[in-house]
Amino acid sequence: MAALEQLPKAELHLHIEGTLEPELALELAQRNGVALPYASLEELKGKYQFTNLQSFLDLYYELMGTLKTAQDFRDLALAYFAKVSTQGVRHAEIFFDPQVHVANGLDVNMVMDGLLEGMHIAKERYGITSGLILSIVRDMPLETAQSVIDSVKNRASDILGIGLDSAEVGYPPHLFTKQFQEAKALGWHRVAHAGEEGPASYVIDALDNLHAERIDHGIHSVTDPELLKRLASERIPLTTCPLSNRRLQVVGSLDELPLRNMMDQGVLINVNSDDPAYFGGYIADNYKALSEIGFTLSELASFAEHSIDASFIGDDQRRTLR
Ligand code: HPA
Ligand code: ZN
Repeated sequence: MAALEQLPKAELHLHIEGTLEPELALELAQRNGVALPYASLEELKGKYQFTNLQSFLDLYYELMGTLKTAQDFRDLALAYFAKVSTQGVRHAEIFFDPQVHVANGLDVNMVMDGLLEGMHIAKERYGITSGLILSIVRDMPLETAQSVIDSVKNRASDILGIGLDSAEVGYPPHLFTKQFQEAKALGWHRVAHAGEEGPASYVIDALDNLHAERIDHGIHSVTDPELLKRLASERIPLTTCPLSNRRLQVVGSLDELPLRNMMDQGVLINVNSDDPAYFGGYIADNYKALSEIGFTLSELASFAEHSIDASFIGDDQRRTLR
């Protein structure tokens, strides 16, 4: 485990709201006067049995309602960085879901200010650099996605990229073409969740229509040999999340994950935690889980190297992270 924790790595698929531990959610609910339908920590913890993506999203969005102030967002980010500072994370590219916070009555600029303050402190305290990815919640009304983009355009350089998350099936990537075009014009990188519960055709859609530079999850690409060749030749990384896939029952067991198959075909794979407070582990736990099913230290080291290669940092910084 120590060797896995020491591998220098970047975390590229991490929803900051998915780092909200149940203890902190209850504390925030009390501090902020938010009523949750759970009488105790034990009762809340009993809800972490998921049957699919939606069953997780229901709890994830409910607990997000406890986040109210810039300080809450700063503390959330700092709690994440404190955890991964002992797990080899040198750089993190972090999703946040502004449409949900706005629907909860918050100002997107306040949310960003809190997160950015936490990220700034983490750089000073732990030497971990990071960037924010504004993630479109694909099953909320499209106007709400457009409206958060409009609200933060004037501070475009505070954002590293645009992403696409939440309920996948029925919400194909091309529905968001205009928002991704606009993001490109603002200088933002482009990533999208595709091929988690959705089919390989959604991955192709994200590449063709959103010009995604990385695909989040992407594991259903394995059903399309031509797509695997394309991912390899165009050097499009997949940000995979093993413990997430198991907990959301995308696979029955970790052995069913097609990571080695895809890696052998030249696809660039990296390993991440997705929503660690919900899926039973932070990034090093995901590496450990792969080691337990037979991935060698040198294979795991190559995932870690690929994570740094797949990040959006400049080449100068990249060299210092390895
Ligand atoms: N998939 C889609 N949406 C999400 C996820 C995920 O794993 N985590 C948070 N939002
Ligand atoms: Zn995700």
